[in-house]
Amino acid sequence: MNVALLGYGVVGKGVANLIEKHPEYGVHLTRILVHRKEQAVSVNMTDDINEILNDSSIEAVMECIGGDEPAHTYCLNAIQKGKHVITANKKMLSVHYDELARCAYENHVSLRFSASCGGGIPWIRNLEEIAKKETIYSVEGIMNGTSNYILDKIFRKGRTFEEALREAQELGYAEKDPSDDIDGIDTRAKTVLSANIAFQKAFDPNDVLALGIRYFSNEEYKYCINNRRVCVLKGIIQNHGEKVSLAVLPFFEEMHSLFASVHENYNCFLLNSETRKQLAFIGEGAGRYPTASNMIDDLLSLLRNEEFRYLPSGKGSNAEEALSYRFYIRSKDNKAFESLIEKEVGEDTYITRAASLKKLREALERNNDKEIFIAGISHD
Ligand code: HSE
Repeated sequence: MNVALLGYGVVGKGVANLIEKHPEYGVHLTRILVHRKEQAVSVNMTDDINEILNDSSIEAVMECIGGDEPAHTYCLNAIQKGKHVITANKKMLSVHYDELARCAYENHVSLRFSASCGGGIPWIRNLEEIAKKETIYSVEGIMNGTSNYILDKIFRKGRTFEEALREAQELGYAEKDPSDDIDGIDTRAKTVLSANIAFQKAFDPNDVLALGIRYFSNEEYKYCINNRRVCVLKGIIQNHGEKVSLAVLPFFEEMHSLFASVHENYNCFLLNSETRKQLAFIGEGAGRYPTASNMIDDLLSLLRNEEFRYLPSGKGSNAEEALSYRFYIRSKDNKAFESLIEKEVGEDTYITRAASLKKLREALERNNDKEIFIAGISHD
C-alpha cells in the first residue's frame, strides 16, 4: 500500500522510522508533507499538499501535523479524494468529528484515530469493539501524559511545576502550546472522542467543562498530603441511560487507588460496561514511538481490510446536572460558591457539599478569580 505522511515532527518521524524499519509491513511511504520548502531534504518530501491529494496511487494519508488548520482541510480533502485517513490529531478531530466521520462514511473510506487518545494504548480500538456489543456505563481516565508527568514529579520527586513542565516538553510529551495540556483542553478532546465512539454520537467539546492544573499550588499539595491523596487530571464520561455526562477536572485520589499509581507520562482509562464490569487500560500516553505505534496499528488494520466507518447518529448533549461530586475550591472570590460550601479547610480554601457540575459551572460563571483551583474529591 502507498501511503503519505502529513507532518514530520515528533510523531511523524516516529511513523516514518517504523515504516522504514519494517519492510515486512508492505507499506511504501511515497510522500512526506513538510511545512516549508527548505525542510524537503529528501526526494519523497514536498511542501505541496496537492502532490499528495492528486496522486491516485496513494491510498492512505497519516496526519501528524496537529492543530486545527490546515490539518482539518487536508484530511477532508484526502477523504473526498477517496483516501483513508489515519490521524493522531485529537484537537482537530474532536471539533470536526461529525463532518469528517460522515464524509468518510459517504466516501467508503476509513477514518482511524487510535493514536489520538492514550498515546500507545490500544484504547479507541478496544472501546470500539466493546461498544459494538454492549452498553458502556462509564469511562474515567488520566488522558494527558504531560499533566500526569508534572503532577507525578511534584508528588513523588519534589519538582516544581515549571521544572516538570520543561522536562515534559523536552521529552516530546507536551503540545506545541502546553496550555492545552495543563488547562484540560487536550483531555477534553480525548474525552469527547471516546464518548463519540462509546455512544455513536458527535459531542461538542465546547459543551464540556474543562478545568486544568495550571494553578495547582503548594496549598493543594499540602491538602493532598495531609489527607493521603494525590492529584490527577481526569476525563469523565458517565452514561445515565437517557443522558450522558462529560467533564474534565483534577481529582484528589486516595493514595492507594488505581489512578494514584499511574506515574510518569502514563495514561489510564478505566472502563465500566455491561458484561466486562471494570477494565483498565494503562500505558505510555504520550511520546514519539508509543503514539507512532498506534498509528501503525491503524495502518495495518487497513491492510487487513478492516473498516472503521461510523455515521454519528446525531449530536451528543452533555447532561451536567447528572454528575455530582464534592469539590475542593481555592479562590480569593468565594462569594459565588457560598451556597455550595460545607467547610473551610485553609486560607481561601473550601470543601463543598456534593454538587452537580451544572451548579459548579453556574458558580464559576459568577466568579472573577482567574487563578481559581478546583478539584473533585474521589470516593468521598
Ligand atoms: N500532549 C499530549 C499528552 C500528547 O501530553 O498527553 C499525547 O496526546
